[in-house]
Amino acid sequence: MSSVSGASPVAAAPAHGASSVFIIGLLASLAGLMFGLDIGVISGAQSFIQKDFHISDHALEWVVSSMMLGAAAGALGCGWLSSSLGRKRSLILGGFLFVIGSLGCALAPSPSILIMGRIVLGVAIGIASYTAPLYIAEIAPEAIRGRMISTYQLMITSGILVAFLSDTAFSYSGSWRWMLGVIAVPGILFLLGLFVLPDSPRWLLMRGEKKEAANVLMRLRGGERDQVDKEMADIEEQLKQPQMGFALFRQNANFRRSVWLGVLLQAMQQFTGMNVVMYYAPRIFQAMGYATEAQMWFTALVGLINVLATLIAMAVIDHWGRKPTLYTGFAVMAIGLGVVGTMMMGGAPSSHGMQLFTVIMLLVFIVGFAMSAGPLIWTLCSEIQPLKGRDFGIAASTFTNWITNMIVGLTFLSLLNGIGTAQTFWLYGGFNVLFLLLTFLLIPETKGVTLEHIETRLMAGEKLRDIGRQ
Ligand code: BGC
Repeated sequence: MSSVSGASPVAAAPAHGASSVFIIGLLASLAGLMFGLDIGVISGAQSFIQKDFHISDHALEWVVSSMMLGAAAGALGCGWLSSSLGRKRSLILGGFLFVIGSLGCALAPSPSILIMGRIVLGVAIGIASYTAPLYIAEIAPEAIRGRMISTYQLMITSGILVAFLSDTAFSYSGSWRWMLGVIAVPGILFLLGLFVLPDSPRWLLMRGEKKEAANVLMRLRGGERDQVDKEMADIEEQLKQPQMGFALFRQNANFRRSVWLGVLLQAMQQFTGMNVVMYYAPRIFQAMGYATEAQMWFTALVGLINVLATLIAMAVIDHWGRKPTLYTGFAVMAIGLGVVGTMMMGGAPSSHGMQLFTVIMLLVFIVGFAMSAGPLIWTLCSEIQPLKGRDFGIAASTFTNWITNMIVGLTFLSLLNGIGTAQTFWLYGGFNVLFLLLTFLLIPETKGVTLEHIETRLMAGEKLRDIGRQ
């Protein structure tokens, strides 16, 4: 992902601020890792949960999707939480709920308690997925901010992979309780890590605690007085621009356009169908005719390809630009899903070769997502909002991410049972074709332009697709 360039012109960090930077990196990694663990962990556990509790596909959809409902609620409340409690304490609350939620899931005596545990986990991730990038952006020096945020994205995919691998390991004994419980361990590490971190200097300044903010910055920047003074002045300057949120949304038609664009972007990301695979991969491999062991290993392979393709994306995104990357990604995803659907028209593919080809096309789809919509939609959502409405705009799009994520999780098995496997994949393939068109019509190219430039053009009423034009 690219850096949010132009947000605040702060000088590069001195080398001896490196140890604080390392701690920030660690935090970034752990919050992203937890996000990913949460997404990934349920796929391998499902078949065992279904057998143990004797529940229907529809009830299983709720077990999967209740987490996203909690996350949507967490994303809604965390704007308020992170400004009143502060970023650090919000993250501590998130980490605490994460540990409670994972243990609750592991020990659940019934499907309804399991669903409640998943909601708690979701709230934790809703809080962490909003607050962690915010905290990182506020505490990291400008020079490494972009890298920190992309590390966070990479760790989401790594978390998914780790969850897939750990599910695979526990699948031999069929112990879904261990699968769901073991993620409490990184949760506890995350919590411990948070206690040693300082409050965000920007949040301290927002509360008028100038002396404490300067102390924190001195520690973070290795005692460079000049740089700290400059950074304090920059933050104070930015804080003069109050967040107007909903009031701005009501008053200003141009701001409404960027909010709706963010909402659309996140809905597009989810309706690519990526999470169908993240949540139900073993079930998809089962439909292709594979036995349990192969289902689990192919799922782990999906996770690995997702990480590798994200790494590649991070290297090329800033050179290619947003729109060409999105066109390529949506086209690749449409082809991948179209072919998977076609191969499964008469049920499982008939030969070994055909089966393998279908797996490869599913992996092609994963590459399409990980190189484009995965990291890029988050980048675009943070780039298109004007400064005084940024918190509100990002909260609205993040909320949409979780709600549409839930819809996808909640309908997949019903779609398979209702319209059929091939038709379900074609439906998602069709969405990706539609997104090619929407990218052409509505999405701006924001590569290499400052946020101020985008804001000026948005507020001047330029067409959305032109707000990034030089
Ligand atoms: C999406 C998640 C998805 C993940 C997969 C993220 O960008 O927001 O919903 O599960 O990518 O790598």
